[in-house]
Amino acid sequence: MNILFLGDLVGENSVYFLKKNLKNICIKYNINLVITNAENVAEGYGITPEISNNLFKIGVNVISTGNHIWDKSEIIPYISKNCNLLKPNNLTNQSAGQGFILYETESNKKILVINLLCNLFMRKSENLFESVNKIMSNYRLKKNCDAIIIDIHGEAASEKQALANYLDGKVTAIIGTHTHVPTSDLRILPSGTAYQTDAGMCGDYDSVIGGKKNEWIENFIKKPDFKKIKPASSNHTMCGVIIKVFEDSGLSSVAKQLILGDILENKIPDEKLFLK
Ligand SMILES: [Fe+2]
Repeated sequence: MNILFLGDLVGENSVYFLKKNLKNICIKYNINLVITNAENVAEGYGITPEISNNLFKIGVNVISTGNHIWDKSEIIPYISKNCNLLKPNNLTNQSAGQGFILYETESNKKILVINLLCNLFMRKSENLFESVNKIMSNYRLKKNCDAIIIDIHGEAASEKQALANYLDGKVTAIIGTHTHVPTSDLRILPSGTAYQTDAGMCGDYDSVIGGKKNEWIENFIKKPDFKKIKPASSNHTMCGVIIKVFEDSGLSSVAKQLILGDILENKIPDEKLFLK
């Protein structure tokens, strides 16, 4: 079983780029499940029901989010009814939606996807470790699920790495999001959990974290009057991780970075690593 995890989609152009490429990627790498973080997809701030539906239509199975989940208020009634769109499980200030889903693939594999928010330098949330412990008390690899994937959304590499080592051997993969910068530390930890501090964004890298460069510069010079920034949209790059799951243990057998598009050096994994 192979899983594709894509980092933060920034702006609606990232959806068009995904629409153009996702189907071919899924065929090439025999992908059983597609997860993407999409909390910055609607003009850089939040996600709308329309974009969410569109992402599901083009082949995304589960959407994770983060600190911007409530930026578009129309998502509140939608997330209450659509459990394939996740909010961070430990986000305390809204009751709508859920932070994890046991997703059943077409080949009847049960994959638990968990969305969490870091505590450091982020909006107020419940303790990250307590939050994941509550979920994990009900799930165990190969007992009641075939894989467990965690999106850990946040700034601090230390916090993400602590979580990954805390859960090493208990989950399939822990992939970071939020910084919009793909890190070069993808690895399989000693007990079998794949980990990368940040998957990187799907967006325009001729930018400041996906937003228009000049608007960001102006904002920093003129702070504290911080204005909303429009997404840059001239170039497109998709960043993510492809994970092959051991059928017998549910842990990671192969994990490779995928970087496809403009600006960044591309990383295209060998499809032979992801045969059925
Ligand atoms: Fe974020």
